[in-house]
Amino acid sequence: MKTVLRSLESPDQTQKMAQELSSFLEKGDVLGLRGNLGSGKTTFVQGLAQGLKILDGYAVSSPTFAFIHEYACSKTPLFHMDFYRLAEGSEAESLGLDLYLQGQGICAIEWFEKAQALLPKDFLELEFRVASENTRDIHMIAHGPRSQKILSNFF
Ligand SMILES: Nc1ncnc2c1ncn2[C@@H]1O[C@H](COP(=O)(O)OP(=O)(O)O)[C@@H](O)[C@H]1O
Ligand SMILES: [Mg+2]
Repeated sequence: MKTVLRSLESPDQTQKMAQELSSFLEKGDVLGLRGNLGSGKTTFVQGLAQGLKILDGYAVSSPTFAFIHEYACSKTPLFHMDFYRLAEGSEAESLGLDLYLQGQGICAIEWFEKAQALLPKDFLELEFRVASENTRDIHMIAHGPRSQKILSNFF
């Protein structure tokens, strides 16, 4: 299992890193974002959307009333999910996650741990920690060969 740790010193740096990472992502890739509220997960997904040239990438927000936001208006669609309010178990199963995991776009999932049993084994985990007011430490953990390849290409 390959892991990488980076320090991100502003929201802008977090978005730039996500933009760079997006160029190594392909349809079917799954990113699981973990970390407390305010640790930078949504900020990171905004950077992904910008990198994927999703027109309203700057408008990406955590899906509050829906668990899933689809941004399909780009060459590589982005499915942004936030399971913070998801009850574990049957509610997760009723989301139809399978459809999103069939390879038609990239899945970026905040609070993925609430539905981890429904995710593929091979995904790239991104753990965010608040180091100071404007600094976030991001720990990237590859859970299989595809996500290891993403990390190797990226660094
Ligand atoms: N280095 C950084 N990276 C990301 N966000 C940061 C950073 N420094 C400060 N912030 C701030 O922290 C907050 C992160 O919020 P958000 O991305 O919505 O977190 P989450 O989705 O994890 O709850 C934003 O207000 C952002 O401006
Ligand atoms: Mg969020």
